Amino acid sequence: MTRIVVLSGAGLSAESGLGTFRDVGGIWSQYDLEDVATPQGFARDPALVHGFYNARRANCIAARPNAAHLALARLQARLGPQVMLVTQNIDDLLTRAGARDVVHMHGNLMRAVCAACGHRWDAPPEMDPAMPCPACARPATRPDVVWFGEIPNHMDDIAKALQGCKTFVSIGTSGSVYPAAGFVAEAAAHGARTLELNLDPADNSGLFDEARHGPASKTVPHWVDEVLTDL
Ligand code: OAD
Repeated sequence: MTRIVVLSGAGLSAESGLGTFRDVGGIWSQYDLEDVATPQGFARDPALVHGFYNARRANCIAARPNAAHLALARLQARLGPQVMLVTQNIDDLLTRAGARDVVHMHGNLMRAVCAACGHRWDAPPEMDPAMPCPACARPATRPDVVWFGEIPNHMDDIAKALQGCKTFVSIGTSGSVYPAAGFVAEAAAHGARTLELNLDPADNSGLFDEARHGPASKTVPHWVDEVLTDL
């Protein structure tokens, strides 16, 4: 049974050098979301979209997990399936920190999916529109990520965990993209204690029982130490 649900966002990986979306100078100030993160944008210009994700994949490969990723992996190593690590991030830094079964609700940059037959495989560092699917050979390869207008992954498992957990913690997310922004209300409605760990107050900050503001590399290891001390 899941006791603690942790939701993370781009702020978790910010100190590993991966950009956030909505902070000053963030990804959505450099790119138009409609062009690179929607099915319509991909249909219009697949080369542009592959280029965007190829660049992000290269940044991700060069990045290293930071103290916050490592602390969450340590928490999970102690508590096992009592902890569910849900992330909106498409990087693999939690897994590389040692976490298992990370719930990638917005998909995984390191995986590819065939839009024609649904086959999934490990993404090569560089993808392009002509790349054939290894299963059906059609050139319908796309990054295995969830775009705006698509349904996030694993929503049933996440809903079940939110309804049964004792603690819900949100780390490094602006609380502005649904359905993830609604998780705090769902967990609270079922009696969970809710905690925000973010650099600045998120858009939904007022919905949390407690908020601690600071860099994830400091707040997350501190919170994990508290949880493990109280066991
Ligand atoms: P945002 O860029 O919207 O928010 C990042 C949050 O992290 C902000 O509230 C920052 O204050 C905080 N932050 C920045 N540096 C931090 C640090 N060192 N420690 C702790 N917090 C820090 O990113 P997300 O909320 O993850 O979706 O964005 C949600 C979704 O919108 C993404 O998954 C992506 C995006 O468009 C899709 O592409 C479908």
